[in-house]
Amino acid sequence: MIPLCHIDAIEEGGSKELRDGEQSLIAVRKNGQLYVYLNRCPHRGIALEWQPDQFLDYERQFIQCSTHGALFRIENGLCIQGPCIGCSLQSVSIRIDDSGQLWRDRDNHSH
Ligand code: FES
Repeated sequence: MIPLCHIDAIEEGGSKELRDGEQSLIAVRKNGQLYVYLNRCPHRGIALEWQPDQFLDYERQFIQCSTHGALFRIENGLCIQGPCIGCSLQSVSIRIDDSGQLWRDRDNHSH
């Protein structure tokens, strides 16, 4: 197994795409917390971003889908505006080891 990335690669208040094999993940760091979701919009099942690593809206308050503009809460992935309102991004369990490396946590699917 290889780590997804180092925690320092994700800037505070920013977002980054992580690759787990063929799967694309969204990582957002906010107020020191890290939130990770599958990079798949519940509306059409496609990736959210139109530019690499850009998953947030202009004010960095929400995760935004670039195709039809759905907005998702960073903290829980819930869509609060757009065509998939009420649906959620699928959260991904991760753990951070002592050296700051991020790992996908496959044994624990609760968050
Ligand atoms: S594909 Fe994301 S809002 Fe339509």
